[in-house]
Amino acid sequence: MNEVTKSLLAHRSFRSYQDKEVDEGQLEQIIQSVQASPNWINGQQYSIIAVKDKDRKKKLAELCGNQKHIEEAPVFLVFCADFYRTYLASEMEGTTLNIAEDIDTLIVGVTDVGIALGTAVAAAESFGLGTVSIGGIRRNALEVIDMLDLPEYVIPVSGLCIGHPGEDAGQKPRLPKEAVYHEERYNRNQQPILEEYNDTYSRYLRERPKNNRIGTWTEFVASFFSKRYYQGIAEMLRKQKFPGG
Ligand SMILES: Cc1cc2nc3c(=O)[nH]c(=O)nc-3n(C[C@H](O)[C@H](O)[C@H](O)COP(=O)(O)O)c2cc1C
Repeated sequence: MNEVTKSLLAHRSFRSYQDKEVDEGQLEQIIQSVQASPNWINGQQYSIIAVKDKDRKKKLAELCGNQKHIEEAPVFLVFCADFYRTYLASEMEGTTLNIAEDIDTLIVGVTDVGIALGTAVAAAESFGLGTVSIGGIRRNALEVIDMLDLPEYVIPVSGLCIGHPGEDAGQKPRLPKEAVYHEERYNRNQQPILEEYNDTYSRYLRERPKNNRIGTWTEFVASFFSKRYYQGIAEMLRKQKFPGG
């Protein structure tokens, strides 16, 4: 193992942080790492809004569903899918921007954000910082858009808390490799793997020092996806002139 894979394999999310600033030089390198990452046609269809002001973090913590760690983390980054620059490029070149008619642009923007987010997490962890991604940024997306002054063609996809790690909740067990890694062809025979993982996962939930609960992974995931989690996503997409609205 090398230093990079050691750091990647030690990943866990942190939901509590020390009362200590993040070094600006480190934050700069995190953003530089994101900027160096691969992206669709080098169109760089993402933007990051850093929020450090205490009151604004408090407000965002509420909007994200009362997630206290957003307030506690010294830096909160909001990762957006961004076609505003594409819009400007179209204006400059006298062409028609056609993103709202093609649902693939949603995949393009969200993929760019996913890579940017993952890169930021890896870069932050390489400095010994802790992070937690925040999909809750889409819970009250219209208010977030307003608060961050996001123009049309820009949508918030995920937040990211960054800070010096507080309490370590430990590592969450992952699916066995055979579930997510296939050779040559997709292996549909995953039920036995899920049953095995259910045992591992429910044992982990029961035995973890804090927040212990009862349940299996399939119960949790099935329940989560049995209903619509965030309301108003279509409205957000429509307002920001994205496809799918
Ligand atoms: C895009 C994305 C959004 C997430 N949103 C939230 C969130 O709103 N609140 C939260 O506490 N954790 C959130 N998480 C963290 C996941 O719950 C966490 O990564 C997952 O349970 C695995 O745990 P680990 O990161 O500790 O290994 C999010 C993670 C991702 C990748």
